[in-house]
Amino acid sequence: MLLSGKARLAGVIGWPVAHSRSPRLHGTWLNRHQIDGAYMPLAIAPADFAASIHTLARIGFVGANVTIPHKEAAFAVCTKLDDSARRAGAVNTLVFNDGQIIGSNTDGIGFLANLRAHHVDPCAGPALILGAGGAARAIGAALLDQGTSVTFCNRTQARAASLATALGAETLDWPQRHAALADFALLVNSTSLGMTGHPPLEISLDRVPLTMAVADIVYAPLQTPLLAAATAAGLRPVEGLGMLLHQAVPGFAAWFGVTPTVDAELYRIVAADLLG
Ligand SMILES: NC(=O)c1ccc[n+]([C@@H]2O[C@H](COP(=O)([O-])OP(=O)(O)OC[C@H]3O[C@@H](n4cnc5c(N)ncnc54)[C@H](OP(=O)(O)O)[C@@H]3O)[C@@H](O)[C@H]2O)c1
Repeated sequence: MLLSGKARLAGVIGWPVAHSRSPRLHGTWLNRHQIDGAYMPLAIAPADFAASIHTLARIGFVGANVTIPHKEAAFAVCTKLDDSARRAGAVNTLVFNDGQIIGSNTDGIGFLANLRAHHVDPCAGPALILGAGGAARAIGAALLDQGTSVTFCNRTQARAASLATALGAETLDWPQRHAALADFALLVNSTSLGMTGHPPLEISLDRVPLTMAVADIVYAPLQTPLLAAATAAGLRPVEGLGMLLHQAVPGFAAWFGVTPTVDAELYRIVAADLLG
């Protein structure tokens, strides 16, 4: 690590933050590009969030990522928001510049970049998004902005309905997800089902066209039950770790002035960190 008095400082703000893979990810890029800078975990409690952001900006940080539970609070603290943040209703990337706190949401961009890295065209046909939380909203907005038609399907129907109204999408009742699958080109799991410690997602892939791509944004474990079922059914699986890596690119580029690449070596390093 290179660190001079002029080093650029950034980090990830969460509560807790110890589980975050972002320091390993950005640290790998900092080393790779021999950048005079650091990216650190910043454990900040919700009550201290707004004051801490202003302090970080004042003491010379160039920006930060924001993770659970601060993404909505970050939206509120920004002096400037880009379209991705407005559409997602939440901020995961902050840039401090000339007294401004600029917020964006890179989850949608990261999701699309990961699809393309798996040779999946986001515009190939209608998408069914399972879930209606923060990630579902960012992904839905990004797909809609590509011209893809989007349907939200969520255990709590009212959340899917309000998301669909806000973004201009359709909804499907949760029990209908199996039967309706044949009408979609892309299935996205953006619920927490399938995550380590959570039940698996129940979905039948029996009568699904072989051209369907199945994206799971859950990345712990790397191979979720849904991805295993998609592979077994001959469909095109798209794993969630790639989205995590791709969503980090715009922040790194803004803070450190280099656009980093997502490649197999980076995937191995972060995957090993997850397994360790
Ligand atoms: N790969 C990446 O870069 C990336 C980025 C962001 C998030 N993620 C992952 O995506 C997942 C969702 O994140 P989020 O921030 O959107 O979370 P969130 O806002 O808390 O939303 C959670 C979603 O999961 C659904 N859900 C939870 N338990 C369920 C169950 N037992 N049955 C059916 N649905 C259930 C919720 O449905 P209800 O509305 O009915 O409660 C809700 O739609 C997490 O696993 C997170 O780690 C990955």
